[in-house]
Amino acid sequence: MKTKIFILSAVLFLFQRVDAQKYDNLALTPPMGWNSWNKFAQNVDEKMIREIADAMVATGMKDAGYEYIVIDDYWHGKRDSLGFIHPDKDRFPSGIKALADYIHSKGLKFGIYSCAGYETCGHQPGSRGYEYQDALMYAKWGVDYLKYDWCSTKYINTKEAYPTMSKALKAAGRPIVFSLCEWGSSHPWEWAGEVGHLWRTTGDIYNCFDCVDDHGDWKAYGVLQIMELNQKLRAYAGPGKWNDPDMLEVGNGMAANEARAHFSLWCIMASPLIAGNDLRAMDAETISILTNKDMITVDQDSLGIQGFRYEVKDSVETWLKPLKNNAWALMYFNRSHSPKSIEVDWKNLQITDTLTGKTLNTTQKNIHLIRDLWLNKEIGSTKKSTKMIVPARDVFCLKIYRKE
Ligand code: GLA
Repeated sequence: MKTKIFILSAVLFLFQRVDAQKYDNLALTPPMGWNSWNKFAQNVDEKMIREIADAMVATGMKDAGYEYIVIDDYWHGKRDSLGFIHPDKDRFPSGIKALADYIHSKGLKFGIYSCAGYETCGHQPGSRGYEYQDALMYAKWGVDYLKYDWCSTKYINTKEAYPTMSKALKAAGRPIVFSLCEWGSSHPWEWAGEVGHLWRTTGDIYNCFDCVDDHGDWKAYGVLQIMELNQKLRAYAGPGKWNDPDMLEVGNGMAANEARAHFSLWCIMASPLIAGNDLRAMDAETISILTNKDMITVDQDSLGIQGFRYEVKDSVETWLKPLKNNAWALMYFNRSHSPKSIEVDWKNLQITDTLTGKTLNTTQKNIHLIRDLWLNKEIGSTKKSTKMIVPARDVFCLKIYRKE
């Protein structure tokens, strides 16, 4: 009897595995890449995308970990008589397969965009009713990442539409990272861990540090507004399932201090790092922010724990993120318009993360080393208290760790 039960459980287990809707073991750390939308919107063509891939390598972005080149809306042409989708012939004359091959030849990966509705948000053909055919086409082209939007979806249910595309991708047989983009409307963090690898938690980002762009029936949000919504959802994130607070606006004109704070907040929240600027025309400051390996290491930490805001004192927010090997990222974010000086007295510091139960304790003999993650150097230990000046709307980021 026991043997029969064992065999039955093993068969059920195997079935569950086969029946899984998404590709597991993809996006075990937050995906990193570039997407055309924030900077280029409808102005996409194969020449620009190739140049962006070249720039991703030449600027050191690839070496820093950026991997996916994703074409957002407006690559589409028409469906053929059998219903298969093709790209716009004028803007992608060599076809998508040739473009994907080029991107792969650079050691990068290729992503594309579609929509669960009848039309994309830019009124291009959506995937509704063509999910399996579109997934087949993407697999044939060599697509590695699909961003899947939510326009033109009246009477469509998110919890049906996203699993349908997830299953279609799986059936097409090519491992494809599946990025849900329904703006948090149906709380995807509660159900999409089995369906995709990341989900947008908010409406679209807007190139502003602290504003709301109100269009009446929809709104776009600044960095701080998005951060507030996204930071509440840390319990749902982890390897293979990420909260996505939208693509980066670093390099699109934001002041350097705000861009640095934006990037740091995204890293502390274990967010996907999808650059949204023109990689062919970056100044040195933008490159140094986007390729800061210390902050990227925080974002990409293998534990995959989304960090949290611990306290706010005099407009300075203290954020923490537990890292592997009992290390911690500690960020001071000055929300105000004037510099703030702070002093950390390590001998009194003991903080427990209520979600993970992990404790940072620098009291008594628990001496830790301190690395400044923006200066990229060690700045001492917790033996003595540390004084810092956090510039206006900027951050001071530290790694607190013990010698292994
Ligand atoms: C929606 C998405 C954006 C972008 C556009 C394209 O607004 O949220 O990120 O993909 O559609 O039309």
